[in-house]
Amino acid sequence: MCGIIAVTGSGAKVEILTTGLKRLEYRGYDSAGIITVDAAHGFTRYRVANGKTSLHELEQELEAASSNEILAGIGHTRWATHGGPTLFNAHPHLDCTEKIAIVHNGIVENFRELKEQLGHNGHLFSSETDTEVIAHLIEEQRPFCSSLLEAVQKASRLMRGAMSFVVMSLDDPTTLVGFKRMAPMMVASKGDTWFIASDIPAILDRADRFFQVEDENFVVVDPLGAKAFDENGSERDLVELHANWTLDAAERSGYDDFMSKEIFEQAASLRDTVVGRLDASQNLVLDEHLADTDLLARINKVFIVACGTSYHAGMVAKYAIEHWTKMPVELDISSEFRYRDPVVDERTLVVAVSQSGETLDTLAALHEAKNLGAQTLAVCNVVGSSMARLADSVLYTRAGPEVSVASTKTHTAQIGALMVLALHLARIKGQLYPQEVIDLYLELCELPNKIEEVLQVWDSVAALASRLSDKQRFYFIGRHVGYPVALEGALKLKEISYLPAEGYPAGELKHGPIAMLDEQAVVIVVATRTRLYEKIMSNVEEVRARKPFLVILGNQQDEGCITGSEEFIAVPRVHPLFAPIIDVIPLQMFAYHMAKSLGYDPDRPRNLAKTVTVE
Ligand code: M6R
Repeated sequence: MCGIIAVTGSGAKVEILTTGLKRLEYRGYDSAGIITVDAAHGFTRYRVANGKTSLHELEQELEAASSNEILAGIGHTRWATHGGPTLFNAHPHLDCTEKIAIVHNGIVENFRELKEQLGHNGHLFSSETDTEVIAHLIEEQRPFCSSLLEAVQKASRLMRGAMSFVVMSLDDPTTLVGFKRMAPMMVASKGDTWFIASDIPAILDRADRFFQVEDENFVVVDPLGAKAFDENGSERDLVELHANWTLDAAERSGYDDFMSKEIFEQAASLRDTVVGRLDASQNLVLDEHLADTDLLARINKVFIVACGTSYHAGMVAKYAIEHWTKMPVELDISSEFRYRDPVVDERTLVVAVSQSGETLDTLAALHEAKNLGAQTLAVCNVVGSSMARLADSVLYTRAGPEVSVASTKTHTAQIGALMVLALHLARIKGQLYPQEVIDLYLELCELPNKIEEVLQVWDSVAALASRLSDKQRFYFIGRHVGYPVALEGALKLKEISYLPAEGYPAGELKHGPIAMLDEQAVVIVVATRTRLYEKIMSNVEEVRARKPFLVILGNQQDEGCITGSEEFIAVPRVHPLFAPIIDVIPLQMFAYHMAKSLGYDPDRPRNLAKTVTVE
């Protein structure tokens, strides 16, 4: 949540901030603002709080000033937590002297007590945000410190919660000070122009070197370079990141929106993720960290933690890992995992699945797993993200930047990556013959071609969505690996069309939810050929008798299973455990077309942000 960009150095311009913020739109758009400093005027602040149009309006307001050179500047796009999405709550915030400016992502959990104390000390607040408290805390510390860095360090010790922020001060106008604690932050540069940003896309075409910032570290960035310091003030190395993302991948490139572009990128993203992932000995080729095969051979349990769409990918993986390895797999929503007493030890492999690698709930679950002594693996998409740095091993989904808030291509890539992990575990556990592993892996590598085929249903799914655009209730049902597909279909529809949608295991309908079915309901059945095909077709009969509008998503040869005005979406038949990768795609398209036919912008769903870095 919340996007941050900051720039200093000879190339610093207003336009870098506004363009960077546009590229961070997926982080939130309740309001947007920048503050710049130049020799003639000191600070100049612009803020807009018009919801989905905030960034566009900010860009328009600053068009005339866009090429203005500045000494430095910071910008922010907000997903509101503390304080409504109003202008006076929009970042950047200032201290009482208006000499310290700050943008912030995350939450200061003890902000009420800090604010009360600061109020007693005479500080006046102009917003309801927790962010403004940080500016005043730094203001209080500053007279007793030799530098802005020292004041920021002292202030940070007083605050609890996950956060990252960037501060600028008129006392030293070309210096930016950043702090990172379990929220994304990176540093980048080109020549003597330096940046701090929450995400790579903000500065992809501006910088040619990217550096990761460690948790509990501070960065001081000025035209001469960047330095990192730990909480004790010792200087730390800034480790360079090598992200092969291109600007093209972070732009719409002729598509109406990012969601449709990313749906159509799925063949390529799956191919990039799975091809080359098993070596000649069927060992998993991990990224960055070396997998210790001996350690992995000793594990007797897998625990998967994730949120939202990533959780649904983890759910598919549970079926595959249990089937191929015969090891128990537990699956937990990250925000639940850390607050119960999960039974995890050094023989457990905890797999954190996350597109961003920054989702706070999953990051905290990963910390918890490490504290409990588990072996840990992160499956994430963002190179150098917090989870990638924390986990013992990393398996990247090579899907490129995903900008749409509603995840699509990273979901299918996650399932692909987790399938390779399952095959690798099956091999080292001796549960599959080497040739079986090879055959299955080769079949997985063929799946991108099947995706190309399934992408052809785009127009027919659009026609279906327009036929159903007046329907009010949607039920997605599936069995076995079709169940997580049903959950994901329902989640996508809720996220971008705001329609009540539920995902159920089809066999569970008769235990209650079937009471909801009537002629106004739409039931979408994931009925591709798993070994439960006949059972789900019996569930279809139970549904049909209640006369909802019925849509069956099935394999091409089963088209004859519908009757009357029912609809069939045909997808190619693949290995049953790989089927979710194929089957989810028409459901992504359905959510997309429903949103469009209802007049919603799929890239800007209300109330949502791409990366949830608050609890
Ligand atoms: O970055 P992550 O994969 O950890 O994000 C987890 C969820 O917040 C995310 O999948 C969310 O559900 C998406 N909006 C789904 O489209």
